[in-house]
Amino acid sequence: MAKIISNERLSKDFFLMKVEEENHAVMGQFYMLRAWGEYPLLSRPISVFDADEHSVSFLYKVVGKGTEIFAGLKAGAEIKLDGPHGNGFPEAEGKIALVGGGVGIAPLYLTAKTLKKLNPASKVDIYLGFSDQAILVDSYEKVADQVTLNVGGFVTDDIDPLQYDVIMTCGPEIMMKVLYKKCRSVGAKAPLYVSMENRMACGIGACLVCTCKTTAGNKRACKDGPVMLGSEVFGDE
Ligand SMILES: Cc1cc2nc3c(=O)[nH]c(=O)nc-3n(C[C@H](O)[C@H](O)[C@H](O)COP(=O)(O)OP(=O)(O)OC[C@H]3O[C@@H](n4cnc5c(N)ncnc54)[C@H](O)[C@@H]3O)c2cc1C
Ligand code: FES
Repeated sequence: MAKIISNERLSKDFFLMKVEEENHAVMGQFYMLRAWGEYPLLSRPISVFDADEHSVSFLYKVVGKGTEIFAGLKAGAEIKLDGPHGNGFPEAEGKIALVGGGVGIAPLYLTAKTLKKLNPASKVDIYLGFSDQAILVDSYEKVADQVTLNVGGFVTDDIDPLQYDVIMTCGPEIMMKVLYKKCRSVGAKAPLYVSMENRMACGIGACLVCTCKTTAGNKRACKDGPVMLGSEVFGDE
């Protein structure tokens, strides 16, 4: 069990939880979280928002029973962390765009921070899309060269894929697919990496619940992903 350092409400539905943790997570990975006994049955997968040698943070949106329980936890309480799991975003350099929709912005914070640390000369632009209220914009501005905010519209409208060497995205599958199609339609050369947030059960590659069809065969989002190439996931669509 790990001790919760803080669990702050950021808006009506969004919370940021910081937990004591020694295992070092990298950009785009996730943990399976649990703060209950028997019910709900399954632990909940949540991306790493930020991490250092002694802690890990999670940005989460309350959508059901599990996340509702997380939201009620106070500093000092304990939570079970299983992870970090999965293959996250790849190391990259040059002009990089990170595109997030809703709670899909979560893994992009550590990703921007890591990419800038790996190569300070890289230009990292972040596109944040929210349906109503924006959160954490100041924090993202600290780790990126430029932040473009879209509230109530389509964040995919804001990006010119031709400006970038690499594009990484996380959010609703439909948003990632629209971005993939836009990249194709303008003839962008930049590879697009998508983070697949399929429903999960075991989180470690054993149950196949999170399987998705790709051009390279069936893949498990938890073990082979969650980050995959958009071209593998969406193919000729
Ligand atoms: C790899 C991965 C990383 C994730 N990272 C984050 C994160 O950083 N922050 C965050 O808030 N959430 C994240 N999620 C989604 C999160 O796991 C679910 O929102 C959570 O499990 C819901 O649990 P619940 O008990 O609150 O809701 P439930 O009662 O289980 O579900 C409530 C509603 O949410 C829908 N839902 C549940 N899981 C998903 C899902 N995976 N995709 C789409 N809809 C879903 C259900 O269909 C239902 O309508 C991630 C999911 C995956 C697979
Ligand atoms: S969640 Fe069990 S294989 Fe991915």
